[in-house]
Amino acid sequence: MSQKKIFLILVAVSTVSLLLHRGGHLSWTMEVFRLTCPAVNAPQTGKHTNIVFLKTHKTASTTVQNIFFRFAERNNLTVALPVTPCDHQFCYPRMFSSHFVHPNTMPPNIVTSHLRFSHSELRRIMPNNTIYITILREPGAMFESLFSYYNQYCDSFKRVPNGSLQTFLDKPWSYYRPGEKDSMYARNTLTFDLGGDKDRPSADVMKYAKRFAAEVERVFSLVMIAEYFDESLILLRHLLSWDLEDVLYFKQNMRMPSSRSNLSEAQLHKIREWNAIDAVLYDHFNTSLWRQLNELGLACVAREVKLLRRAQEQMVRGCYGGRLPPLRSGAEITNKNLRPWQPSSKVAIVGYDLPVNASKESGMSQDKCLKMIIPEVQYTKQLLHLQMLHYRNKYFLNTMKNNMKTPTRQQNQPSGSILGHPATLGKIPRASARFFH
Ligand SMILES: *[C@@H]1O[C@H](CO)[C@@H](O)[C@H](O)[C@H]1NC(C)=O
Ligand SMILES: *[C@@H]1O[C@H](CO)[C@@H](O)[C@H](O)[C@H]1NC(C)=O
Ligand SMILES: *[C@@H]1O[C@H](CO)[C@@H](O)[C@H](O)[C@H]1NC(C)=O
Ligand SMILES: *[C@@H]1O[C@H](CO)[C@@H](O)[C@H](O)[C@H]1NC(C)=O
Ligand SMILES: *[C@@H]1O[C@H](CO)[C@@H](O)[C@H](O)[C@H]1NC(C)=O
Ligand SMILES: *[C@@H]1O[C@H](CO)[C@@H](O)[C@H](O)[C@H]1NC(C)=O
Repeated sequence: MSQKKIFLILVAVSTVSLLLHRGGHLSWTMEVFRLTCPAVNAPQTGKHTNIVFLKTHKTASTTVQNIFFRFAERNNLTVALPVTPCDHQFCYPRMFSSHFVHPNTMPPNIVTSHLRFSHSELRRIMPNNTIYITILREPGAMFESLFSYYNQYCDSFKRVPNGSLQTFLDKPWSYYRPGEKDSMYARNTLTFDLGGDKDRPSADVMKYAKRFAAEVERVFSLVMIAEYFDESLILLRHLLSWDLEDVLYFKQNMRMPSSRSNLSEAQLHKIREWNAIDAVLYDHFNTSLWRQLNELGLACVAREVKLLRRAQEQMVRGCYGGRLPPLRSGAEITNKNLRPWQPSSKVAIVGYDLPVNASKESGMSQDKCLKMIIPEVQYTKQLLHLQMLHYRNKYFLNTMKNNMKTPTRQQNQPSGSILGHPATLGKIPRASARFFH
């Protein structure tokens, strides 16, 4: 390299560092940051569309599921959905089996409903380039949330006098029965969801936890962390080569802040001890997350998080003319299609009430706005309905093709357009669409 070139490089480097040190609010500083972000969307490969998202409990996973549902609809992808006897989950807490998948949703691109993880069973139905993703949450906040959410539902919690978390933590074995129905909500829930052994004897629990974390790391390309939700989404979009718009979200399935309680250091310690495997998993994957964020470049991540939040604000303005519709408890939400499932009378899961100001002038599609806030159970029903129509339509067309001599009639058939076409949406959007007018 000639001395002249080296000189020019030195000048360039010192100019950039000078620019960086002079106030981050200048727009050309953003341009410099842009250079630090690796390009997403290599044109040859396109967006990844074969995905398993293991939806864990009480981890903000409903919000991630909503992102995947909307992505699937926009891109005409098939989402595996449960057969009717399984409800809206794949017969959780039973270990996942390919028999739980509704035949009209086969072969799938995306799996994102609650299930207990079995890699071998998922491999039977998923393409071999499937990317596995999941999400974990800090064990203290997680357990406090489980305890409050399943208080009237899970026997291990129902037995506790006065529904006191402290009482449970003082003597968990007085209330917990390992083999009992719903016991998975009371100990190492994340481990259980991931297909692991929640009741490993304490003699080798640490060894087991480390081995299990390594196994999870081998299968899952990304383990998101609920405490760093937006940062996790940036990693997600880079991993999948998606656009920033693809990961836009409004928060779903939250509790009223008033039903949340603070933990003492001592309580946190007891929770981590009781959920030892989950605690190891969390620490392991929080470390991996930050390693991945560092690899991507913290400046790049910060910039994309900022853009994501700005896009979110724009979307809220476009959809509801200012701010999100007010959060309401389930009972207060008059449209039952927007009412989230309530686990008990003691804990309020909040949702969005009917959007008053769906702005038509902004050009934002009403359907698009509604899909951002529609709860899991209703969206699952709606997707199943759409996919069944699509499936029958395809089957019908194939039969026509085989039976008809002239192909002209086929062209008048509605072909694949049923999927994602607002006019053909099921009960839910039709009912809700009224409120946008
Ligand atoms: C994945 O599946 C395709 C077609 O089913 C096959 O051609 C390919 O070899 C498989 N790749 C791997 C890595 O197994
Ligand atoms: C339950 O709460 C009541 C009233 O707050 C209290 O008197 C009682 O001692 C509590 N019981 C237990 C087992 O903590
Ligand atoms: C929890 O802590 C926060 C701040 O540390 C405080 O504002 C809030 O009132 C506390 N909540 C309860 C239920 O004690
Ligand atoms: C996650 O890891 C980061 C980086 O090591 C650390 O600063 C942070 O405290 C961890 N978060 C939690 C909730 O443990
Ligand atoms: C709805 O829009 C009107 C006018 O655009 C505004 O005056 C009103 O405050 C908005 N209502 C809500 C709940 O945002
Ligand atoms: C999805 O299918 C519809 C109808 O067949 C089509 O108009 C649309 O372009 C498709 N979208 C994508 C992303 O493939």
